Amino acid sequence: MASLASRSSQALRAASRRVPRTASKVAPKPANAASYSLLATTRASALSRRTTTFESVRGVKTLDFAGSKEVVYERSDWPLAKLQDYFKNDTLALIGYGSQGHGQGLNARDNGLNVIVGVRENGESWKQALEDGWVPGETLFPIEDAIKRGTIIMNLLSDAAQSATWPRLAPLITKGKTLYFSHGFSVVYKEDTKVIPPKDVDVILVAPKGSGRTVRTLFKEGRGINSSIAVWQDVTGKARERATALGVAIGSGYMYETTFEKEVYSDLYGERGVLMGGIQGMFLAQYKVLRENGHSPSEAFNETVEEATQSLFPLIGEKGFVRSFPPLPIAARAIFTDLAPSPRMDYMYNACSTTARRGALDWAPVFEAANRPIFEKLYKSVRDGTETRKSLEFNGRSTYREDLARELSEIDGQEIWRAGKTVRSLRPDYKP
Ligand SMILES: NC(=O)c1ccc[n+]([C@@H]2O[C@H](COP(=O)([O-])OP(=O)(O)OC[C@H]3O[C@@H](n4cnc5c(N)ncnc54)[C@H](OP(=O)(O)O)[C@@H]3O)[C@@H](O)[C@H]2O)c1
Repeated sequence: MASLASRSSQALRAASRRVPRTASKVAPKPANAASYSLLATTRASALSRRTTTFESVRGVKTLDFAGSKEVVYERSDWPLAKLQDYFKNDTLALIGYGSQGHGQGLNARDNGLNVIVGVRENGESWKQALEDGWVPGETLFPIEDAIKRGTIIMNLLSDAAQSATWPRLAPLITKGKTLYFSHGFSVVYKEDTKVIPPKDVDVILVAPKGSGRTVRTLFKEGRGINSSIAVWQDVTGKARERATALGVAIGSGYMYETTFEKEVYSDLYGERGVLMGGIQGMFLAQYKVLRENGHSPSEAFNETVEEATQSLFPLIGEKGFVRSFPPLPIAARAIFTDLAPSPRMDYMYNACSTTARRGALDWAPVFEAANRPIFEKLYKSVRDGTETRKSLEFNGRSTYREDLARELSEIDGQEIWRAGKTVRSLRPDYKP
């Protein structure tokens, strides 16, 4: 599929001119996304000093997701001044400073909230927090001290560490505080983790659907990440409101309501599947067969990874696998619409040659049939706690960082990724 990128972008530009605006089912853009960026925080802080009444733009929406109605919360319900007022008596104590601690903590701090960080003294995270400007004794504390000072305890330790530290941290989470997680892991799998929250605190979840680095990057761009929100325990009657406000505080643009259980099942499943484990397995299998059949490393890499990540996957991200109408003349489109109430054509497929489309259409069901039993097995392994127990055992080791690094370096050393380094180095925007 040579020169696909140029052909596809032309095709897409043309296609987007043809596609009618069926915008009612598309989530609207936030009205004032930029006001959550670093720059606008300053303006909003000034505003909050001048006024105590807020113009609330209703952001809660019921949207139609492929025929299912779901409530979506958006940050326009929480103008920055209102957000700062809501949390004016709170101290957000971020416990743990991995990827999420970094992204969520810096965003909440830039949003003008009172944030402190609690991590092991002089560990890796302590050093990282110092680099990010957290000040020992002012905004950076050992874990227990931070919990004592905080009103909202944001437990962003690794999932294994949440379990290991729980016996000493639990007594510090006293009545009136809010307990916050970014994963349902600890409380849903309580038989294994032993994390049982005190009965007299609200327990909520905001789980960004992306890495903490992305949480930070999107925020800095004035955009927001999609997050799931959920309530485990509502003592005050305000737990959902708090979850939504915290979602905005840490940099979410849109928040989708779920339960702790559904969040953790889907998340463990997704990352082991298509998002990470599955994709590495598929890439490697395809690459190896190409190599065994005499293709060069560059050809095998280009045809497996480079074209996927640089051309086709971004197209899926941009418009989805499908779009509302096929690229037909208007008259033909009307007939098509009559025949099928919701005509769908594959957007990414349409950017590719007819040869590619024919083959992909034929082989997609074969891959689905082959993969379905694997996904079923994986989901079962998540639901019955097998994945949780493995994660607790492995990531609970004192050597977890080195052990993970060793296995990841093995992947990095695979020929496919070594070949990829050279391919990437030829990109015009390459940064070493
Ligand atoms: N990363 C993601 O993409 C993502 C996305 C959504 C939700 N989440 C959830 O967010 C939470 C945090 O995840 P993360 O990826 O940011 O962090 P992580 O890398 O899993 O955890 C790192 C933090 O845990 C601390 N830690 C590890 N073992 C410890 C121990 N025995 N005692 C004290 N501290 C310990 C580390 O401190 P040291 O540096 O001192 O070891 C570090 O601050 C998890 O619940 C995760 O499931 C993550």
